[in-house]
Amino acid sequence: MDADKPPILEVHGVTKRLGGVDILKGINFKVKAGSVLAIIGASGSGKSTLLRCLNMLVQPDDGQIVWQGRDIGWVTVNGRPRRATERELLRYRLEVGMVFQSFNLFPHMTALQNIVEAPVMVQRRPRPQVVLEAEALLAKVQLSHRAHAFPHQMSGGEQQRVAIARALAMKPNALLFDEVTSALDPELKGEVLAVMRQLAGEGMTMISVSHEMGFVRQVADHVIFMHKGRVCEEGDPKIVLEQPQTPELKSFLQKVTD
Ligand SMILES: Nc1ncnc2c1ncn2[C@@H]1O[C@H](COP(=O)(O)OP(=O)(O)O)[C@@H](O)[C@H]1O
Ligand SMILES: [Mg+2]
Repeated sequence: MDADKPPILEVHGVTKRLGGVDILKGINFKVKAGSVLAIIGASGSGKSTLLRCLNMLVQPDDGQIVWQGRDIGWVTVNGRPRRATERELLRYRLEVGMVFQSFNLFPHMTALQNIVEAPVMVQRRPRPQVVLEAEALLAKVQLSHRAHAFPHQMSGGEQQRVAIARALAMKPNALLFDEVTSALDPELKGEVLAVMRQLAGEGMTMISVSHEMGFVRQVADHVIFMHKGRVCEEGDPKIVLEQPQTPELKSFLQKVTD
């Protein structure tokens, strides 16, 4: 990683309270452009809530999400700050794609149609060009032969690769992944991780909540271990995972398997 590069994303003191409970208790970290951040932690530690805050599906109660130097939750007009409108947040959300554990493909559309839909309907880009790009993206995720298959005709691994291609079709500047292999049978995880590994190699900025410790160790530049809504440990995964400092991380690592 280039030490001089400014961060593409900065998270400052983000807190979130849901249902009367403090879910995020002051989260801080930075992500450099082109780097891979892994987020690990036990179920319920706040990982998904944090990812949703990062693309403003959930608005933090306090703190800042700074994207390319700009606080995306707030807009200053005539010197007075106000909360960003939903329209302004949508524009940001298009720059930061998200892939979920549950694929969330449109069931009545083919793989190709799933990929083409949002660039045409949301970004208003010309369909013929988007179709060509979608075909190239299907090739990239090794699914050219499944272009006209419907989700129910595809394996979970195939569906998840379509979901990644769909996110890429929006030409995002970063991608967020929330446990994207957790719902997959072990033999299908590898094909999805291979696509993520390839994207990382191409310089895509990625933030991935993952329980795949092999992936975290080999692909992530930085890892954050969350515990009860706080960043408990962080650093180079090769060090953090090999030499856990806290009882919380030691206990977590004993429970997850490679
Ligand atoms: N909308 C909500 N209302 C109340 N509690 C929530 C809501 N969403 C998540 N939580 C709670 O926040 C905690 C963290 O959830 P989550 O961010 O999904 O954790 P993780 O992804 O690490 O498993 C959990 O205890 C969960 O029950
Ligand atoms: Mg989660």
